[in-house]
Amino acid sequence: MTTQRISKIGFFSSDPWSRRVQNLDDAFRRLGVDVLHVLPWKVLRWGSTESHEISYEGKDLTELDVMFVLDLGGNDIGAFFNRVGLLSALTELGVNVINSVSSILLMRNKAETMRKLISARLPVPRSLITESIEDAAEFVRQNFPCVLKPITGFGGAGVQLIHREFDRSNIYDYLKFHSQLFGKGAFILQEFVKSPGYDIRAFVLDGEVISSMKRVGGEGITNNIHAGGVPEKNDIDVTELAVRSAKSVKGRIVGVDIIPDQNGVLWVLEANATPGWAGLQQVTDFDISQHIADVLSRK
Ligand SMILES: Nc1ncnc2c1ncn2[C@@H]1O[C@H](COP(=O)(O)OP(=O)(O)O)[C@@H](O)[C@H]1O
Ligand SMILES: [Mg+2]
Repeated sequence: MTTQRISKIGFFSSDPWSRRVQNLDDAFRRLGVDVLHVLPWKVLRWGSTESHEISYEGKDLTELDVMFVLDLGGNDIGAFFNRVGLLSALTELGVNVINSVSSILLMRNKAETMRKLISARLPVPRSLITESIEDAAEFVRQNFPCVLKPITGFGGAGVQLIHREFDRSNIYDYLKFHSQLFGKGAFILQEFVKSPGYDIRAFVLDGEVISSMKRVGGEGITNNIHAGGVPEKNDIDVTELAVRSAKSVKGRIVGVDIIPDQNGVLWVLEANATPGWAGLQQVTDFDISQHIADVLSRK
C-alpha cells in the first residue's frame, strides 16, 4: 500500500536560500509535494466584513495543507505579533501549522518552556526569573558562579557564566550592561551545571528521537553550533528526557538541549521550536531532511 501524501506545503522562513531549506525543498519534491517558500514579511492579509484573505505573491495561503515554520524571525514586537496572528489565522482556516502556534510561543520564551518542563517533572537547573535587578543581584551573591540568560534568544546569544570576582563585586553594572546589550528586560539566573565540556542536542520528531549529538566546546559556556560548538556522535541515552520534554511543550518537531553534570546526571536546559540540523547531519548516517519530509508529508 502506498503512503497517502499531502499535496502542498509552505515553508515559513526568512532564509529560503539556506542549505537546510534547499535540502528540505528537494526532499519534499522527491515525494511529489509542491513547495511554496513564504517570506514572512511579504504575506498580505485582507480583512473585511465578509472575509479574511491571506495571500503570498497572489497565491491563497489557505490552500496549503501544511505550513512548516522553519524560523519565525520577528524580533521587533510588531512583526512578531503579526506573524503569530498570521499563523493563528491560517490554523483557524484549516492549515496544519507545524509546530502549532501555542507550541512555538512556549518555546520562544525560556521561562515558559521551563514552566512546562517543571510541570512534567523534568530535571531543570534551579532558576530565578525576574525583572528586578536587585533580586537578580542577590541570586548571584548566593549562587556564585551562576548562569545569566535573556528570557528569549537562541544560538547562545547572551548566555553567560558570571564567574569573575570583578563581575560579582560590580554585579549591578554587569546586569545593567547585559540588559542593555540583550534588551529583554527580564533575567533568567540559573545554577551553573559544570559539564565535561559538552552538551547534548536531541532532535525529536513526532515523539521519537530521530538523532542526537554532543556539541563540544564553543564560546564561553555555550556549546551551540552557532557559538562554535563542534558536533560529535552521542552515546548517552537521552531518549526518555528528550521525548518527555518535547511532549511537555506539545511540539511535533523539537530540538531539546540536555546537559550532563560531572556525575553524569542529566539536566534539561530548553526546547527549541525551530531547530536546525546542519550540525546534526554531520554525525547522522541518514538524510535528516528526507526523513522529516517523509514524516511531515504523511496524511
Ligand atoms: N545552567 C547552565 N549550566 C551550564 N551551561 C549552560 C547552562 N545553561 C546554558 N548552558 C550552555 O549554554 C548553551 C545555550 O543555552 P540555552 O539555554 O540553550 O540558550 P540558547 O537558546 O541560546 O541556545 C547551552 O547549550 C549550554 O551549552
Ligand atoms: Mg539552546
